[in-house]
Formats: sequence, structure tokens, C-alpha cells
Amino acid sequence: MLIDTHSHIYSEEFDADRNEAIGRAKLAGVSHIVLPNIDASSIDRLASLSRSDSEYFYVANGLHPTSVNVDYRKELELIFSDNTFASLTNVVAIGEIGMDLYWDDTFVEEQKHVLDFQLSYAKERKLPVIIHCRNAFGQIMDVMSAGYRSGMTGVFHCFSEDYEAAKQVLDMGFNIGVGGVLTYKKSTLPDVVARIPLTSILLETDSPYLAPVPHRGKRNEPAFVACVAEKLSQIIGRDYDDVCETTSANAKKLFNLN
Ligand code: NI
Repeated sequence: MLIDTHSHIYSEEFDADRNEAIGRAKLAGVSHIVLPNIDASSIDRLASLSRSDSEYFYVANGLHPTSVNVDYRKELELIFSDNTFASLTNVVAIGEIGMDLYWDDTFVEEQKHVLDFQLSYAKERKLPVIIHCRNAFGQIMDVMSAGYRSGMTGVFHCFSEDYEAAKQVLDMGFNIGVGGVLTYKKSTLPDVVARIPLTSILLETDSPYLAPVPHRGKRNEPAFVACVAEKLSQIIGRDYDDVCETTSANAKKLFNLN
């Protein structure tokens, strides 16, 4: 059993062959897929896929940091409306949320504010969070380290920081999300995952992005989470089945999946 804890398979990149991609995921042993939202414009797609099979798809609702701009108030209002939550089945987390200062830091203050709002929302409803972090680890930790955030859970998805940062994430009681980057030749992630407990690792694809070797450069899809599990099993010297079972148990626990 494998769980893809981060896929955007509801996106238009899969419009031509979504059912086939889901079939391939099932063949590869993927038992559950978590679908993180991007912004208000992706809710309808997310809702219709999650409703198509509510025992296979689980939803994280939230506003992605790269979609934060001058209109963020309107976005938050739409995303966190009762209507939106009524249209989504199986909301298991708030995500993806966080900060991204890689391409553009124009809206850094807005990103902080939006992250703060969404963390508070998750905390109030006792939901875990899916954190997107790119070139912004220190800023995110600043927002998250506010005392009233203690007791929250979640995952730093597509983790790409060093071991010291990983330790801070684990100390907070959060998990590390590992995807295709683990398989890349120049990745420093193998050294990080080798030093952290398997009980803190979640597997993911972030499909359609960041396809693992040997699919690198092509469209990623949930079935390829098996390549990540295989690589992880080589790096840490544990059985493939053990890696799949332990990381699935981690995901089930965090997101409270059946
Ligand atoms: Ni994502």
C-alpha cells in the first residue's frame, strides 16, 4: 500500500487521461490520494474529483502562496466560505499554504498574513496543515513559532531544506514530505532522509510537477510515488514493503484516513 499525500491530478494537465492515470495509480498500489487546493479557481475541479470517489480522494482546502496577490481577501473569502466546504467531500487538511519567495517577493507581507490566517483557521478546527515552502523557511518558521501554534500538526511538503531545518520541523511535531526530488542526481535530500526517522516521512508526487527518475522532465502522476518509495528504500536500507507500510501509516495518522 502507498499513499500519494500530494497530487494535483484534478488539474487540466490530466483532462485527457485522468481515469487512466487513476487506474495506473491503483495498479501501482496507491490506496489513497490527497488533493491540495491552489486557489478559488481550482475548487470546482477539486470538488468534482473528490466527489467521484470519496474513499480514494481526500481534500486539503486552502490558498497557495503563489496565488497570493492584491486580491487575497476575496480569495480567502471564497475558499473559506460555507459553500466551498459544502461542495468538498473529505476535507482532511488545510493546504496548500505557506510562503514562496523564489520567483517573486512582491507580496511577502500578504503571504505572511495569509499564512497566519490559514494556520489559525486550521488550529481552530484541529486540522493538520500542508506547508509549501520555497526560499522562505525562516519566514515561515517565524509565522509558525507564535506560541499559540503549539499542538498543531502537518507536513512540510516537497521538503528541500537541509538537515538542521528538518530537525526544526520534526521538533515541532511536523512531518517531512518527500517526492521526486529525492531521485535527482544532485539532490542533497538523500543525506537528510537518511538522518531522520521513517516514522516522520510522508511520500508524495506533487503531480503533475517534479516527476521522479526515470520519468524526470515528463508529466508526473500518482503512480510514480512508487519510484520515490523505491529510492527511499535503497537510501535507508529498509524493505520496499516496509517503506510503503510505514509511510502509509504516517499519512493515515496525520490525515485521519480510513
Ligand atoms: Ni502542490
